[in-house]
Amino acid sequence: MLSLLVSLGLVTFVRTQGNITCGTPVVQPVTNRIVGGVESTPYSWPYVTLLEDDLGYISGSATILNAHVLVTSAQHFEGPDFNVFDVDIAHWRVYAGEHNIHIKDPNERYYHISRVILHPAFNHSTLENDIALIVTKEAMHFNDHVRFVCLPDSSHQYTVGQLCYLPGWGSTAASGNEEVLNQIDIPILSDDICLRHRPDFLPITEICAGYENGTKAFCRNDVGSPLLCKDRNGQWYIQGIASSGGNCRNHSDPDAFEDVALFSDWVKNTMRDANYPYIP
Ligand SMILES: *[C@@H]1O[C@H](CO)[C@@H](O)[C@H](O)[C@H]1NC(C)=O
Ligand SMILES: *[C@@H]1O[C@H](CO)[C@@H](O)[C@H](O)[C@H]1NC(C)=O
Ligand SMILES: *[C@@H]1O[C@H](CO)[C@@H](O)[C@H](O)[C@H]1NC(C)=O
Ligand SMILES: *[C@@H]1O[C@H](CO)[C@@H](O)[C@H](O)[C@H]1NC(C)=O
Repeated sequence: MLSLLVSLGLVTFVRTQGNITCGTPVVQPVTNRIVGGVESTPYSWPYVTLLEDDLGYISGSATILNAHVLVTSAQHFEGPDFNVFDVDIAHWRVYAGEHNIHIKDPNERYYHISRVILHPAFNHSTLENDIALIVTKEAMHFNDHVRFVCLPDSSHQYTVGQLCYLPGWGSTAASGNEEVLNQIDIPILSDDICLRHRPDFLPITEICAGYENGTKAFCRNDVGSPLLCKDRNGQWYIQGIASSGGNCRNHSDPDAFEDVALFSDWVKNTMRDANYPYIP
C-alpha cells in the first residue's frame, strides 16, 4: 500500500496535508473596511509566506498551495537584466508562520527552495503570464499558523465589486509599519477602469483591482502577494497575484493582478508533474 502511494506521489499529502482543508485559517482575519493599510491580525493569513533573496533582502511574498509548492509572480526571478539561472536560488528562503520580520516567533520556520518553475510564456517586458511556482526542498509543516490556500478552478470567474484582501510586507507606506504583515482591502474593478489608467494593462489575463480615488494601493515589495477572496463556504482562495502597479505613494491608479483562475490548469498540471499534486 505504501509503495502504491509513493508511486502515485500521494505520500506527501497523506503525511502533511492530513485533515486540513484549503483556505481555512485558525485565526480569523479582520475583514472590515479600513481606511489605508493596516497591520493584519497575526497569523490570520497562514498561506502567505515571506520570500527572502540570497542577499537577505525581502523579495516579496509567495502563497502556499501544498506542503512543497508555493505560487508567486515570475518577475521575482526574471527581469530585463537577470534570469532564473543568475539568481542564487539555493540561498533564497521562504519564511512560513511569519508575522513580524524582526521577531523570531515559535511557529515561524524557513524553508529552502529546490527549484522555481516560471510560466513558459512569461514575458518580463510586458509582464504577460507573470506567475511562477516555487518548490521547496523541505516539506512545510502545517499548524495553526501555516496552512495552504484554495486554488480556483479554471471555470471560476471573478466578480466585479467583490471586496478581497491583499496581505503583504510591502504595504508600508499605507500603515507605517514595515516589520509586520499588513493588509489592505481591495475591491475588484472592471477592466475598463484599469485600461483608462494603465496603458500596460492586459485585460485578458489580468484583473483590475484597487482604487482610483487616492485611498490605498500596494507597494513594490508586495509584488507576488496574493489577492485573497472568500467563497460562499467561507474558504479563502487566491484570486489574483499582484503584478503591476504598486505605486504606494500615489494612490490614484488601480493595480493589475494576474487572474489565477486562468492559470489554474497550468498550476495543477505542473504540480502533478512535479509529484506534488494540488489537493484541496
Ligand atoms: C485534525 O484532526 C486532529 C485529530 O483528530 C484534530 O485535533 C484537529 O483539530 C483536526 N484539524 C482540523 C483542521 O480539522
Ligand atoms: C515580449 O513582448 C515584447 C512586446 O510585445 C516582444 O517584443 C518580445 O518579443 C516578447 N518576448 C518574448 C520572449 O516573447
Ligand atoms: C472615483 O471617483 C469618480 C469621480 O467621483 C467616480 O466616478 C468613480 O466611480 C470613482 N471610482 C472608484 C473606483 O471609486
Ligand atoms: C498621481 O497619479 C496621477 C495619475 O497617474 C497623476 O495625475 C498625478 O499627478 C499623480 N500625483 C502625484 C502627486 O504624483
